[in-house]
Amino acid sequence: MNKTVTVYGATGVAGSACVDELIDQGLFNIQVLLRQGQDRDRSTLGARAQSDKQALYERWQASGVKLIEADVASHVSLIPALKGTDYLVSCAPYAATESQYALIYAAREAGVERFVPSEFGFIYEWEQFWPMDTEHRAIARQKAFIRRVIELAGLDYTIIPAGLWIEYYMLEPVAVMGDGNNKFAWSSGGDVGRIIPHVLAHPASRNAICPVAATAYCSWNELLETRELLLGRKVARNYLGAEQWQAAYSNQPPGPVKTVMAIGVAATQCPEGMPLWANWNGLHLPEFKGTPLQELFPNYIEPFTAAMQASLNPLSGVTK
Ligand SMILES: NC(=O)c1ccc[n+]([C@@H]2O[C@H](COP(=O)([O-])OP(=O)(O)OC[C@H]3O[C@@H](n4cnc5c(N)ncnc54)[C@H](OP(=O)(O)O)[C@@H]3O)[C@@H](O)[C@H]2O)c1
Repeated sequence: MNKTVTVYGATGVAGSACVDELIDQGLFNIQVLLRQGQDRDRSTLGARAQSDKQALYERWQASGVKLIEADVASHVSLIPALKGTDYLVSCAPYAATESQYALIYAAREAGVERFVPSEFGFIYEWEQFWPMDTEHRAIARQKAFIRRVIELAGLDYTIIPAGLWIEYYMLEPVAVMGDGNNKFAWSSGGDVGRIIPHVLAHPASRNAICPVAATAYCSWNELLETRELLLGRKVARNYLGAEQWQAAYSNQPPGPVKTVMAIGVAATQCPEGMPLWANWNGLHLPEFKGTPLQELFPNYIEPFTAAMQASLNPLSGVTK
């Protein structure tokens, strides 16, 4: 019998791509958990309009997805809603990481087999020990702690680090983390969602950390050279080491730019031999193809970057 996967945070960037891929993959029964109640929306880029969410729900229902609804802060509501779920996939946003605690407890009580927490960045298990105390390290620690809670609850887990979401790091001048020569894991948000069902279906993902490079596994320099070829011009960039990232982070007022800087601090503080990323899919999922960069840059990354440029201060604190 097919396992049932329930997706939490389903209308988000990673979550919606995950549901679409589950539908295409056809291996699992699919459920989407709708949040009842009035908890504040903490989506990274602002909430999707309710009408957009409704359109997604209708499209998914037409493909056989079951909608389940619960007050996600209440175990009384969550436990019955989660009965029948085998794998619970959380795509909760960065700013609502803690919303997963109630879910883990309820999953245990409802007999869920495996919990996939909302990770999709660095290998937090390691980042949590880096020296500089940044807001990102606090999230890394919480994400690592959540894994302990999952184990404590007696649930299986699959941890999916996904490296850097390309779309967040292409503002010019591009602030390169380090000298640009080491390989990094790159995943667009959509490819993160797409790869989740494939990782989940692989037997090696049970109780494992599976650090994927859903879109590309290459250096900053290689990625930027590809972008330059596609744009037909040079891409302005600064190469920044750990000290420069740390200084920029310390000087930046709170906000989304500071969050990105904290990520730069973590990447450049990473000691040799303890990478924050890997290419698990290269080894275990060679048939999985991320969106080709030749499509991704013009269709998604460039418009995303232009919109970000318009809405944010550029990384003005990050200079050489
Ligand atoms: N490595 C990177 O560079 C990088 C970049 C971006 C994100 N990430 C990680 O990827 C994960 C998913 O991020 P995302 O950008 O896909 O998320 P997102 O699009 O910001 O939001 C995900 C969904 O979560 C739900 N949600 C909103 N507020 C919530 C709340 N208060 N409590 C619970 N759920 C709430 C909403 O779905 P419903 O209304 O359907 O529940 C929303 O559509 C996060 O863990 C984040 O840290 C990593």
